[in-house]
Amino acid sequence: MEIRVFDTAEQVGQAAAMLLGAQLLQKPDSVLGLATGSSPLPIYEALIELHQRGVLDFSRATTFNLDEYVGLPAGHPKSYRRFMEEHLFSQVNLRPEATHIPNGCAADLSAEAAAYDAAIQQAGGLDIQLLGIGRNGHIGFNEPGDCFVSGCHVVELSESTVTANARFFTSPSEVPRRAVSLGIGGIMSARKILLIATGQSKADAIAQTVLGDITPRVPASILQAHPNAMILLDRAAASGLSQKDAF
Ligand code: GLP
Repeated sequence: MEIRVFDTAEQVGQAAAMLLGAQLLQKPDSVLGLATGSSPLPIYEALIELHQRGVLDFSRATTFNLDEYVGLPAGHPKSYRRFMEEHLFSQVNLRPEATHIPNGCAADLSAEAAAYDAAIQQAGGLDIQLLGIGRNGHIGFNEPGDCFVSGCHVVELSESTVTANARFFTSPSEVPRRAVSLGIGGIMSARKILLIATGQSKADAIAQTVLGDITPRVPASILQAHPNAMILLDRAAASGLSQKDAF
């Protein structure tokens, strides 16, 4: 894993946008794995600006998001589909049919999950996967557990994730308890990984991810085994790492 530390969250966003933008410039028909949450927002803002200035063209790109809540229809204000439409898709020239997010309202969620993995394969695999990280070390919605789950699957969200994500909802009781998430195998099969983390609340998860054993108890720790993974941090998120670890 390569680690870069920046002074501010804004710089992390700019740097990640530069790396995603470079991917798109080098390969205009890239397959981009995208993420939701607060952390990627500065990245999406920077990508939109580069698009508006005529630097980035998304017309040949394909995107696959990591996850979606079970039970929230695409148009629901808190669905990840809606989040992506609002914060990226509607503001760049991605073809609507080239943007993919699991359908959390599918009648057969297992079939939906299997079809999602197959669609990624059919698109040629993920060129780059953008990841945030949960405070408990989750990536996508792969929660800490006894084993790594490889394929796209339905997940029971942990109490800590429900609590952390309640800030996006009016009350914790509104947070869906399940999600469809790309599995660890799906994430690890991306050709490049770009994980971003900002803020003190991520410092423990980052220290365990980088310095701890590879264990399903800290799902992001599996990234130690990825041949091309980069982690971009602000100083607060890097505060559990020593100077030597961080550079
Ligand atoms: C959710 C998403 C993750 C994301 C995490 C952290 O649980 N499923 O993909 O990494 O939140 O989000 P934030 O960046 O808002 O802290």
